[in-house]
Amino acid sequence: MGCRTLFFALSCILFAYYISAPIPENVEETWKVGTINALVKMLSFTATLFENIGLMKYEEVLSMLVKLDFTKPISDENITVTDTTFSGIPVRLYLPKRKSERQRPAVIYLHGGGFIIGSCSNSAYDLLNRETANKLDAVVVGVDYRLSPQYYFPAAIEDILSVVKFFLQDKIIERYRVDPMRICIAGDSSGGSLTATVTQLLKNDPVFKNKIKAQALIYPGLQVLDTLAPSHQENEHGLLLTRDMAIKMICLYFTNDEVLPQAMRKNQHMPQESRHLFKFVNWSNFLPDKYKKNYIYMEPVLGKLNLSHPALLDSRLSPLLVNDSQLQKCPLTYILTCQYDILRDDGLMYVTRLRNVGVNVVHDHLEDGFHGALSFMSSPFYLQLGIRVKDKYISWLEENL
Ligand SMILES: *[C@@H]1O[C@H](CO)[C@@H](O)[C@H](O)[C@H]1NC(C)=O
Ligand SMILES: *[C@@H]1O[C@H](CO)[C@@H](O)[C@H](O)[C@H]1NC(C)=O
Ligand SMILES: *[C@@H]1O[C@H](CO)[C@@H](O)[C@H](O)[C@H]1NC(C)=O
Ligand SMILES: *[C@@H]1O[C@H](CO)[C@@H](O)[C@H](O)[C@H]1NC(C)=O
Repeated sequence: MGCRTLFFALSCILFAYYISAPIPENVEETWKVGTINALVKMLSFTATLFENIGLMKYEEVLSMLVKLDFTKPISDENITVTDTTFSGIPVRLYLPKRKSERQRPAVIYLHGGGFIIGSCSNSAYDLLNRETANKLDAVVVGVDYRLSPQYYFPAAIEDILSVVKFFLQDKIIERYRVDPMRICIAGDSSGGSLTATVTQLLKNDPVFKNKIKAQALIYPGLQVLDTLAPSHQENEHGLLLTRDMAIKMICLYFTNDEVLPQAMRKNQHMPQESRHLFKFVNWSNFLPDKYKKNYIYMEPVLGKLNLSHPALLDSRLSPLLVNDSQLQKCPLTYILTCQYDILRDDGLMYVTRLRNVGVNVVHDHLEDGFHGALSFMSSPFYLQLGIRVKDKYISWLEENL
């Protein structure tokens, strides 16, 4: 039997295995979702296999496929699209063509991809940012921040801060006719996490604290302390993103320590001196009863890991770790969470904590939603749910920016 036949046969078996995974009843487009889910899981399985036999790194396999989806900066009748750099960091810039009397709002968009893959030139982000520019008559900046594990945390954050600070200079704001009082930072998944972090850092910076009007977080990850919140347990083998995949990616963001993911899976990764931080991510206090169900809060087990990772205690990695007086500085916030998402409870806890300190939060929860849907907005991988997530985000921007 030839290699190809064998490969094909194995693929079929894997596909059959993953396609048989149950899809929650209220999720629409069952077959399409099942197929996309099976393909994503096969990809992750293959990437793990290739890594284990030493052929290619996990993230290299994923990024090879994601790169097939990159788009060129193509202008259309309404928007001029260019790839350029801000302060040496690659960005894709969307400028509306129509003449406008007033200054324009601006959105700085941070793409998802678990910190290890993806680009603002992926077709879904290109579509999203183009439509945002068109509908809001806004300037949109997609940022290609550096990825892990080639560049570990906090390289991505440094890049984004450089881009924002470059963009906020008077001469740049004037060049693009941007209204400095109407600037929003937005992102999905790991991009949502980066959005929360960068917004907190800018709000603490005396020069920039008044320059960010709003933040939009689409199914963000916001903490790494507790990996057994109800959403982690319910969606352990969830659609598109499993608990193992999420743990693998977050670890790759800041370390090559191979013991850490194992410890994190057991929720035994936090060092002894971190106990005082658990109050910030105590889901027992911050989740509405509806999501707590009958889950019993268990504190993560401390001090089982030999190597200590300072990043685990860093609020730039876990934006939920800042105290209330820091949190209070956050601007107007949009948070979208999905029911079938391992990261759901991170978003829900941030909603509660922000509202507790009086920050104005608009929260959309999609009862039939799952993680990553926004990345599926063009054929052949077109999901109604992806379009709905995009429309909700853009209409919030239209009303609030
Ligand atoms: C340009 O804008 C108009 C009006 O908003 C819209 O109908 C049209 O589809 C847009 N064209 C593209 C290529 O997006
Ligand atoms: C978490 O919250 C529960 C309920 O309020 C409380 O009993 C527990 O001590 C808290 N644990 C931590 C570490 O904050
Ligand atoms: C930590 O180190 C001890 C002693 O070197 C070893 O026995 C133990 O397995 C290590 N634990 C982990 C989680 O690596
Ligand atoms: C909150 O955190 C900031 C920064 O870490 C610190 O300076 C401040 O004292 C803390 N405030 C309270 C009330 O703990």
